Amino acid sequence: MDLPFDVELLTPHMGAIITGVDITGPVSEEMATALRQALADYLVIFFRDQVLSHEAHRDFARIFGPLHIGKAAAAWAMKDYPEIVAIHADADSKYVAGEAWHSDMSCDPEPPLGSALYLHTVPPTGGDTAFSNMFAAYDALSDKMKAYLEGLTATHDARRNFGDIAPPGSELPKSSHPVVRTHPVSGRKAIFVNDDFTTKIDNLPREEGDAILAYLYQHVQQPQFQCRFRWKPHSVALWDNRSVQHSAIWDYFPQTRSGFRVQIAGDKPF
Ligand code: SIN
Repeated sequence: MDLPFDVELLTPHMGAIITGVDITGPVSEEMATALRQALADYLVIFFRDQVLSHEAHRDFARIFGPLHIGKAAAAWAMKDYPEIVAIHADADSKYVAGEAWHSDMSCDPEPPLGSALYLHTVPPTGGDTAFSNMFAAYDALSDKMKAYLEGLTATHDARRNFGDIAPPGSELPKSSHPVVRTHPVSGRKAIFVNDDFTTKIDNLPREEGDAILAYLYQHVQQPQFQCRFRWKPHSVALWDNRSVQHSAIWDYFPQTRSGFRVQIAGDKPF
């Protein structure tokens, strides 16, 4: 379909900056359809110069589906906005959200379809987000490895990521998902294990599973599968969490980087 906005590709295989759309208010159904198509085509889409209220941020994310409320991240949700989580780092930070490569909340039984991150304050340099294309990473596996991974499942445990930082009493879900998932829209296969949440491959002896996970983690993090987004104040990134992993690069300490994230509900990986 012809898209009613301009698209600047970051790489040949993923990532596009979209211009000529105002997402700070209601968008037409025609525009919503085009934005859903752009997400399907480019896996992660970016917008500049969008000053988003919490309401506008939620409405933008709802273009792509109902919102997801992650139990393990509830401690960071905004008061009165349970769907919105603060993403903030400054000179007092001891860690930042999402530094290790991951798919958001893959510990949930139905991990989010996608996430919409809005940053209003960014450091003068640094603080990029890197994204990696799990379709491309799967396609690059050998046929023998693809056959070996077929039918395997892996455990994703919130304790691995949030165990040391979640306040006492937080709910920390654990779920089992296919190591290779099928995208529900395109039918393409994507690697679905990540260093932040995946603790083991269920159907393999521990040492063998750990070796396979170590191989897959280094495989999915290769630069040829990646694109990298340079933030400016009031930019928005929306990624398809079923087909990309991402890493928030913390190279700007003690500068401040701040904003909010909303997630869109997904389905059970298959
Ligand atoms: C996240 O993992 O959702 C945060 C990404 C970022 O801060 O760039």
